[in-house]
Amino acid sequence: SLLVPSVQELAKQHLTNIPSRYVRSEQESPVISAAASVPIIDLQKLISGDFMDSELQKLHFACQQWGFLQVINHGVTPSLLEDFKREKLWQQEDNHEGFGQLFVVSEEQKLDWSDMFYITTLPSHIRQMDLFQKLPSKLREIMEAYSKEIKNLAMIILCQVAKALRMDENEMRELFSDGVQSIRMNYYPPCPAPEKTIGFSPHSDADALTVLFQLNETEGLQVRKDGIWVPVKPLPSVLIVNIGDIMEIVSNGVYRSIEHRAIVNSNKERLSVATFYSSNLDSELGPAHSLTGPNNPPIFRKVPVDKYFKDFFARNGKSYIDFMKEET
Ligand code: SIN
Ligand code: FE2
Repeated sequence: SLLVPSVQELAKQHLTNIPSRYVRSEQESPVISAAASVPIIDLQKLISGDFMDSELQKLHFACQQWGFLQVINHGVTPSLLEDFKREKLWQQEDNHEGFGQLFVVSEEQKLDWSDMFYITTLPSHIRQMDLFQKLPSKLREIMEAYSKEIKNLAMIILCQVAKALRMDENEMRELFSDGVQSIRMNYYPPCPAPEKTIGFSPHSDADALTVLFQLNETEGLQVRKDGIWVPVKPLPSVLIVNIGDIMEIVSNGVYRSIEHRAIVNSNKERLSVATFYSSNLDSELGPAHSLTGPNNPPIFRKVPVDKYFKDFFARNGKSYIDFMKEET
């Protein structure tokens, strides 16, 4: 990756116009609708319910139709989330390794109006400790605890997803028990020309399940639903959960990894933390055995998980899912 300017530093200059690398002329005129909203799922209700439970049906519908959920009663320690909000995430003097933007490969490439910090957190033996040490110690402690709690939450949701899909829960556990987790902290400074740029370009997530924590009340996330961008209003005590490409593959296309983006704002900054959860590194990625058979042929081919990640990074983060489709 090439070094890029800190957007935070740019924002401090009180520009009246933004540099051309941030201007997205190719952006289609956005159709935005707030008429519908991402379904809300009550995790405690879900856990205590059974197969016929309406919360499980709501989960199934949300994963099929939206690929996104707003999870309430998620069980993540409230004081931990509060601590996270209080940390000054973006006071680093320089852009060093781990900070900046992912997948910047040319000087001409358009850039997002955001700074980020990205690190693989689990399994811990692949964590780059030198990078982790660059974070302030209090933030490191919070991340350590947060990483564990979000892994637990991801496993609980994955087991409920198995139930909703009528997939063998043990197969789900075997695929994800020692999964790869990475965390990306996003900082979107205020922007003098918010309508000309984008905070986070449209994409689908490459992982199985993403948990997004919005640290302040500034709106920005939008989810593409039937061709229309639907804003997701940040609500207190809600974690946004979405289906990634890996889960679309495991579910054999029943659940959808949906495109989303983040827009920016002229006077308010926005902070978010995305935690990505993927399969065990030594597993094979493909449609679940318990979901496929003679009447339900796999629509994706199989690939070792480590190869999937290698190819993903070699393609500079472009979604891999179309390559995984079986030719028919
Ligand atoms: C994303 O991780 O794709 C969106 C992040 C955000 O909403 O800030
Ligand atoms: Fe994303």
